[in-house]
Amino acid sequence: MKLLLDDANIKNIKEVYEYYKIDGVTTNPTILSKQGEKPLEVLKKIRNFIKDDQLHIQVLSKDYDSIIKESNLIVKEYGNNTFVKIPANKGGLKAIKKIAKDGINVTATAIYSPMQAFLAMKAGAKYVAPYINRIDNLGYDGILVVKKIQNIIDANNFDTKILAASFKNSNQVLELIQCGIYGFTCSFDIMNKFVDDKNVDSAIDDFVNDFLKLDSNKKTMIDYLL
Ligand code: G3P
Repeated sequence: MKLLLDDANIKNIKEVYEYYKIDGVTTNPTILSKQGEKPLEVLKKIRNFIKDDQLHIQVLSKDYDSIIKESNLIVKEYGNNTFVKIPANKGGLKAIKKIAKDGINVTATAIYSPMQAFLAMKAGAKYVAPYINRIDNLGYDGILVVKKIQNIIDANNFDTKILAASFKNSNQVLELIQCGIYGFTCSFDIMNKFVDDKNVDSAIDDFVNDFLKLDSNKKTMIDYLL
């Protein structure tokens, strides 16, 4: 099971890596545009920090030849464990066939329907990235779309894995974790909500305060141990 961060801000990436076991970073052109720095330099910083973890970079090209060219350049620049994100429209699917055959890791992105996911799997994508929240915003059920994609994988023995993306809350992530979905990429804000519960902090404070009552000098466990 993989947990990735959907962000290109190096400060956020370092913070999340410090606290959680993270398997890599996903980016997209919008995320890169928000960093206020040259995108190639941002990606370089990320690659240097995450070392050999997965780095997902989206192509901007839309026509077949340019997607192929751009994908190869991305992998050449950022190394082997770089996944090229290709939007799974008709042109993208054509390119995925070629790029996957050439051995490049492809994440078929902008997945809004199980049929799109199926075609990306057939084309050889390693990951398909359904957009849960964006599907919900269209009036459909993002979680249900992911479950249908998982059924397609199981029923047809595809090697492709789901990298679920676009969340608006941690409960959507949790629901899919319970379904055994392979991977998730979440924003910094959503990750910060994973363990953001005042009840937990209050319970911890109560435990500590009760212990400190043992001794008027408020000795901690460390004091007793030393
Ligand atoms: O990286 C693509 C996907 O995560 C988009 O997410 O939050 O912009 O819908 P969002």
